[in-house]
Amino acid sequence: MDVQRVQALACGGLKELPEQFIRPAHERPENSKAMEGVDVPVISLSQPHDVLVKQVALACQEWGFFLVTDHGLSPSLIQRLQEVGQEFFRLPQEEKEAYANDAATGKFEGYGTKMTKNSDEKVEWIDYFFHFMSPPSKGLGLEGKVLKSSLRDEEMEVELKINMYPPCPQPQLALGVEPHTDMSALTLLVPNDVPGLQVSKDGNWVAVDYFPNALFVHVGDQIEVLSNGKYKSVLHRSLVNKERTRMSWAVFIVPPQEATIGPLPQLVNDENPPKYSTKTYAEYRYRKFNKLPQ
Ligand code: SIN
Ligand code: FE2
Repeated sequence: MDVQRVQALACGGLKELPEQFIRPAHERPENSKAMEGVDVPVISLSQPHDVLVKQVALACQEWGFFLVTDHGLSPSLIQRLQEVGQEFFRLPQEEKEAYANDAATGKFEGYGTKMTKNSDEKVEWIDYFFHFMSPPSKGLGLEGKVLKSSLRDEEMEVELKINMYPPCPQPQLALGVEPHTDMSALTLLVPNDVPGLQVSKDGNWVAVDYFPNALFVHVGDQIEVLSNGKYKSVLHRSLVNKERTRMSWAVFIVPPQEATIGPLPQLVNDENPPKYSTKTYAEYRYRKFNKLPQ
């Protein structure tokens, strides 16, 4: 399959953005600017536990998003993670293609570029590398379940997506990633120093500034469902840059496909009936990919 990679396109020295990347007027960053003077919550993990719990709960209710500092991951470990992604995208094109994924045949892992156009016939200015981190069963030649059931925190699966947004000739007309919520339970993200992430707060976009070595935490759809809407799955998007390559490393923490997720019984009652249906994560995922109502 011949895929037009965004990075290869950008390397060709484009002056104008090809038509399939030009967003409809209302979606363009130039017409939907972020609010000035609003900062996302920043939470230090070094605080007393009870204070921490309150701050996290509040951030999950009001934003569905927060930054975490003092998390104990060393800057050099974060740097190493970033180098691995940078090295991959620096490989010659044909070497990268050896790792190409093929979502149409169910091979989600590997090097990819989203080709399906949205309802406006538009695509995003991004390439990525997607990698299942845990359970690492395939590499060991074991059945997925064998490893999964012997993992201590038994069931959660961990997926890494390295996002690569090449310099874009007309960034004010494009989006790196269009507005969406993550279908994960939680997403932890580390960006490089090129800002671009925006999160939605009360219907307005808020730009997330670069914060060295902080982890960006997104509440995903599964936690919103479990909490019966008390915690918000944050709507977010990413913008691109004219001169510089933006990259981000997103780790999705997801339930196993067969897990059944619905509002926790402890959180629903007559006054607060379930706001979401209960279904397997596999079904949720299928519906989200195919834009079917949940
Ligand atoms: C995403 O939400 O898919 C990407 C966010 C980012 O690159 O900051
Ligand atoms: Fe996302």
